[in-house]
Amino acid sequence: MSDIEPGPAEELEESFGAHLAALCDRTGRALTACGFTGLLVHSGSALTVFEDDRTYPFVAHAPFKVWVPLPDAPDSYVWFEPGSRPKLILHQPRDYWYKPAGLPRGYWVRHFDVLPVADAAAARAALPRDLSRAAYIGDATPDIGAWGPAAVNPRTLMRTLDYDRAVKSSYELVCMRAANRLGARGHLAATRAFEAGASEFEIELEFIAACGLREQELPYNPIIALNEGGAVLHYQVLDRHPPRERHSLLIDAGAEFAGYASDITRTHSYRDGDFRALIARMEELQQRLCTGVRAGVDWRDVQLEAHAQIGRLLREADLVRCGAEEAVATGLTRVFLPHGIGHLLGIEVHDVGGFMKARGDGDIPRPEGHPYLRLTRVLEPGFVVTMEPGIYFIPQLLEAARADGTQAGRINWPRVTELMKFGGIRIEDDLAVTAAGCENLTRDAFRAAAAGHA
Ligand code: GLY
Ligand code: MN
Ligand code: MN
Repeated sequence: MSDIEPGPAEELEESFGAHLAALCDRTGRALTACGFTGLLVHSGSALTVFEDDRTYPFVAHAPFKVWVPLPDAPDSYVWFEPGSRPKLILHQPRDYWYKPAGLPRGYWVRHFDVLPVADAAAARAALPRDLSRAAYIGDATPDIGAWGPAAVNPRTLMRTLDYDRAVKSSYELVCMRAANRLGARGHLAATRAFEAGASEFEIELEFIAACGLREQELPYNPIIALNEGGAVLHYQVLDRHPPRERHSLLIDAGAEFAGYASDITRTHSYRDGDFRALIARMEELQQRLCTGVRAGVDWRDVQLEAHAQIGRLLREADLVRCGAEEAVATGLTRVFLPHGIGHLLGIEVHDVGGFMKARGDGDIPRPEGHPYLRLTRVLEPGFVVTMEPGIYFIPQLLEAARADGTQAGRINWPRVTELMKFGGIRIEDDLAVTAAGCENLTRDAFRAAAAGHA
């Protein structure tokens, strides 16, 4: 975890107790409703590279991070029984090849019984003898069968717990504000590197250094695309060489704090002109969409409204020759914006529970024609969502539109062809939903970073 600044340290200390009490309470109710009396959650195990003795970077399972902000504790467990303090069973092998995990310190530790164990047998001995009414969430390891839990990854219980993760506590919002402040620092450093002529790889190094995180501590692989790379939605190349000509940077990169993610995208133009003006239009559109976010709003309507506004932008920017409504009705806006307008954010960057109608069974379908939307629920106070409209010049989709007799005539090809070298535009902020509106965690973080307070 990156250094905790004085402000968050106090806030974390103050808010964690109530957060954990609420987590224990709702977990207890979920266990009772599903017929279990205890819950065992596994952190995961480090995976070994084929025929080698080194491991892939370890990433703790999200249901474990729900309880403890310990990203680097493989083979550990949280045990929870309603009415008792939760137990952290921390794997501390006797090992002189690697440094075993130290005893954790920090604002959350005093709320747990922490039991260091050297191996799986000691972990088992630290648990109640009879687990036959307990649920287990984690990898189906060979040990687990013999430990005898009632169920491994029971679906209804997991759905119930996932459903409730959408609403963030005050503590979680403190963490997500901090993740945004770290991310904003990284973005400012990355922007400077872009302006100074850096390669994609060098821009990533600057981002990581400014966040103060290792690559494996980031919530997702940064998308750092110069020029036409911006048209690849999850562009993964980090070119070591700066391009001969520099036009644009699309950077989608976030940071993690205490297990919680930020997910931030900015697009920059190297020069003044047409593309910079297009970014400014997108910025206005994105901010307009943010003002429509509040509790009670159906996210499917936000998706459809975004397309209505993208249709108008395409028309006003002279990218299409038809009217805005026709661009929406004929699917043309989806040629330029093929992804969803946003998603739940939390411990996972695309957080769980985006489609759930209720804690038990049932999903809310996506609107027809929007197969990549990841959230269909009605917003509630405490949800954290991303708002990430964009337009892209994606060769594959444009070629398909050109081959379609009716669609081809609706596109202003000379203008689109001219803009291909810029790749695309996406602007993405993280929003904490309130009853009356939303708190823009990302804009606040950039303001703080610019003022030197982050
Ligand atoms: N960074 C992935 C996304 O924006 O959804
Ligand atoms: Mn996102
Ligand atoms: Mn993103």
